[in-house]
Amino acid sequence: MNLGFIGTGTIATAVVHALAPLGHKIAVSERSASNATALNAAYSNVSVADNAGVTAVADVLFLGLMPDTAREALPALPFRKGQRIISFIADLPLTDVQALVAPAQAVSLVLPFPAIEHTRSPLVAFPHSDLVTEIFAAHDVFAMESEAEFNAILAAQAVLSPVVQMLLTASDWAATQGADATKTQDFLRSLIASNLSASQLTPLLQSLGTTGGYNARLHSHMSEAGSFTALSRGLSAL
Ligand SMILES: NC(=O)c1ccc[n+]([C@@H]2O[C@H](COP(=O)([O-])OP(=O)(O)OC[C@H]3O[C@@H](n4cnc5c(N)ncnc54)[C@H](OP(=O)(O)O)[C@@H]3O)[C@@H](O)[C@H]2O)c1
Repeated sequence: MNLGFIGTGTIATAVVHALAPLGHKIAVSERSASNATALNAAYSNVSVADNAGVTAVADVLFLGLMPDTAREALPALPFRKGQRIISFIADLPLTDVQALVAPAQAVSLVLPFPAIEHTRSPLVAFPHSDLVTEIFAAHDVFAMESEAEFNAILAAQAVLSPVVQMLLTASDWAATQGADATKTQDFLRSLIASNLSASQLTPLLQSLGTTGGYNARLHSHMSEAGSFTALSRGLSAL
């Protein structure tokens, strides 16, 4: 497949790393020159061109732009009928993207995450698209049923940063008690990843609730301190 990327920033670069080894012919835009140059050097099937050049050669185009840049840059590009567009732009509804890329077809709004560069990773897609499932067959595509569901998941995924902060706070605390910080972080990452991948959330929480145990006592402390209520309020405020 001939793939093109308009915007070669953080997320587009991670996705190119995930897709280039599959053998697609990929053109990336010359902005974020250091990313584009490094991708071109790393993969013989990745070339660099200006926005119009990328648009001209790609059958499927990915948009890795900020919303304002998209509104500014896209109308000038030579989109054509039959060309399909996958947008990564979280804050730009697909109907707006469609107006900017006509006569090409905006097929789906997709949220990949940076981990896709290194490992199997979840992606959120709205609406469902066979094209997205095909391109990201090695990953876990979560198709949303409605824009409301997409927006809810978009907010809920922001829990990742507080979760990482909690692990850092715990490892910093352990270091004050004499533990090696790196070893603690490696242990916590392995502990959290293995438990989450092995179990659904509700039974996992139940299994961690042994009365008087360390997990139950910390959970009670955080609940009484209002941490979980604050999380719900924060999600509502996003
Ligand atoms: N980061 C994530 O984890 C993530 C996940 C899912 C979705 N997204 C979405 O993906 C989009 C990009 O996010 P990002 O984190 O990758 O941001 P980013 O690293 O800032 O990337 C934006 C890219 O747009 C380029 N650009 C600016 N003006 C341009 C123009 N006129 N023509 C072509 N390219 C231009 C920038 O190039 P210069 O550096 O040269 O200015 C840069 O390569 C956002 O809409 C975001 O919502 C991000």
